[in-house]
Amino acid sequence: MRILAIESSCDETSVAIVEDGKKVLSNVVFTQIDIHTKFGGVVPEIASRHHIEKITYVIDEAMEKANLTFDDIDKIAVTAKPGLVGSLMVGINAAKTLGLCYNKEVIMVDHIHGHIYANYLESDFNFPVLALVVSGGHTELVLMKDHMDFEIIGETLDDAVGESYDKVARVVKVGYPGGPIIDKMASMGNPTYPLPHVKLGKDSYDFSFSGLKSAVINLCNKLDMKNEELNANDLASSFQDAVVDVLREKTMRAANEFGAKQIIVAGGVAANKGLRKALEEAVSKEKDLILTFPSFKYCTDNAAMIGVAGYFQDKYK
Ligand code: KG4
Ligand code: ZN
Repeated sequence: MRILAIESSCDETSVAIVEDGKKVLSNVVFTQIDIHTKFGGVVPEIASRHHIEKITYVIDEAMEKANLTFDDIDKIAVTAKPGLVGSLMVGINAAKTLGLCYNKEVIMVDHIHGHIYANYLESDFNFPVLALVVSGGHTELVLMKDHMDFEIIGETLDDAVGESYDKVARVVKVGYPGGPIIDKMASMGNPTYPLPHVKLGKDSYDFSFSGLKSAVINLCNKLDMKNEELNANDLASSFQDAVVDVLREKTMRAANEFGAKQIIVAGGVAANKGLRKALEEAVSKEKDLILTFPSFKYCTDNAAMIGVAGYFQDKYK
């Protein structure tokens, strides 16, 4: 089963061809990061305009790299939700047009399922699987007892993790997207600033990151008023320490409570070095628990993950 997959939910125009949900024959990603950097975040209207400009080229390039024609493609998968409406529309229209022209079924895929299934490229799933989904728009703990069976057991009540990384980077004025920059700065600093590790009670699997963000803003304002210098690397380290501590604690507790055999980490923040290290350490103390992350290129938005999720959606419908 060869699937041509399209992803355009935010600021990446991506097309991939994936065989049997496992083998990536091509995965072309055109990122608009440089275009949005000067605005300090994604501007939806600009994002959709660039998707329109790029989509046909990215489709052609993915077909060329895989050295295939449309006769070799069985189905088309596309990100249907969630995302920026104008951006999603471009991918969906491209998918439906290809479907009509070449007489192929179009599979409408949930972007979050895509992030989760990016892990399948690296490892088979050992159910029950606990997925920690941490992206720019989502923070969720999802329990999977089987393929395409998703039970949300906890989620953020306010900001998503990636969003709070981007906001802190904006406050410290270090650039966009904030996640990779703050992650690097954290590795060069120490967690010297006291910031809240918000856990919402010992039984809760929900998250809240808005208080942490406010604490960072208040701290910067206070230091500014007192004319004291901020050690940005130490602040990044303190922030990352608070985020990672909360994510690790809830993930490990949920894995134990629900008898997970495997923890998978999904979404852009799965690239975070501090999170990887903390979870690796925690899982190494457990018996018979596997931990997987997607490789770095499949952590942030890409169409290969949509091709994998599309394959399983089709198989289990
Ligand atoms: O999954 P993704 O590409 O897009 C969404 O679906 O939201 O995630 C993008 C988010 C951004 O907020 C970015 O700052 C964050 O992932 N991110 C990171 C790292 N790399 C990307 N956050 C923390 N540490 C990283 N190394
Ligand atoms: Zn995403």
